[in-house]
Amino acid sequence: MRILLTGGAGFIGSHTCVELLDAGFEVTIVDNLSNSSETALKRVEEITGKKVSFHKCDILDRDSLKKIFDSEKIDSVIHFAGLKAVGESNEIPLKYFLNNVAGTVVLCEVMAEVGVKNLVFSSSATVYGDPKSVPITEDFPLSATNPYGRSKLMIEEILQDLYKSDNDWNIAMLRYFNPVGAHHSGRIGEDPNGIPNNLLPYIAQVAVGKLKELSIFGNDYNTSDGTGVRDYIHVVDLALGHIKAIDKLKTNPGLVTYNLGTGNGCSVLEMLKAFEKACEKEIPHRFAPRREGDAESCYADSSFAEKELNWKAEKTIDDMCKDMWKWQKNNPDGYK
Ligand code: NAD
Ligand code: WQD
Repeated sequence: MRILLTGGAGFIGSHTCVELLDAGFEVTIVDNLSNSSETALKRVEEITGKKVSFHKCDILDRDSLKKIFDSEKIDSVIHFAGLKAVGESNEIPLKYFLNNVAGTVVLCEVMAEVGVKNLVFSSSATVYGDPKSVPITEDFPLSATNPYGRSKLMIEEILQDLYKSDNDWNIAMLRYFNPVGAHHSGRIGEDPNGIPNNLLPYIAQVAVGKLKELSIFGNDYNTSDGTGVRDYIHVVDLALGHIKAIDKLKTNPGLVTYNLGTGNGCSVLEMLKAFEKACEKEIPHRFAPRREGDAESCYADSSFAEKELNWKAEKTIDDMCKDMWKWQKNNPDGYK
């Protein structure tokens, strides 16, 4: 069975590609390489000993996309392609709406035209905005605090309308919490452009000596140690969740939504300590003011995914830091 991954050369896509190939699926990738490198796919092939069919193509390019669907027998699509930098989305919102929202519309139009109606969509815990309490269940109120988050929320609503209009679709919207870590081989991992925005890539670059010190955004939150709490999930656990979602689509569930998290909250200081243990050095850090728009605490209730998908995140914070450190140490400049 062949699965098409949009954005499959990226961080989560490349790890999902490995797990799909290992599980016996065939994989086609459509990526414009705007935030990734073809080297990641070469390494996926090296890790798995299997080939992927790669097309350098923008999902907004309807004609090229249609040709790919016409030339390969696709069963289901996992739609990772999108821009994801929250800060940047405040500066260039239209680019985010065009790429993420319009891109999804074009993709769905082409899928409808060729009769491929199984879709897994990369949504995000960002659709819960500033959550009223934790842990977060799928029925919590939704809101957006920035254009990136709004693009995810809009796509979720578009997919709901699409399903209402045509019940032949099977759509799984997966709300990821904070994906981190890397493949245990240290050959593929997250390769952010420029200075990382996210905690783990930032810590890893301080540990390897590329950045001077970590700024901890706020130590006066109402949490165990005053720093922000998140649900960090190992990218390989997340990748395995996609395989379970693909299996679920085979049962014709209609439109379904799942939180993919561990269910455990971890503070910035706890994460820092775990990374120091993994890299066996102290990581310079200082306390800084809160970052605008940050929630105090955000973690999942993932029991619905556990029940419905028979999926549960298995890897620990120590696994995440160990694998992330292996990737960073072996590839200080990412894929460059
Ligand atoms: P990533 O940037 O590493 O991967 C996204 C991939 O999509 C990149 O390879 C990029 O080149 C490609 N892409 C972007 N626009 C495209 C377009 N128009 N046409 C073709 N390819 C395009 O990001 P990721 O961390 O792997 O995230 C994957 C998905 O998961 C994204 O939709 C993201 O919003 C979502 N998500 C990510 C996180 C996270 O923290 N990493 C959390 C929640 C949700
Ligand atoms: C985690 C914690 C920070 C950097 C973002 C997006 C979200 C989703 C996942 C895509 C917070 C603190 C961070 C630093 C710090 N992405 N921090 N110093 O903000 O939970 O979520 O990525 O959908 O939409 O918003 O992740 O890794 O940026 O921050 O103290 O240099 O680390 O304040 O408490 P976040 P993050």
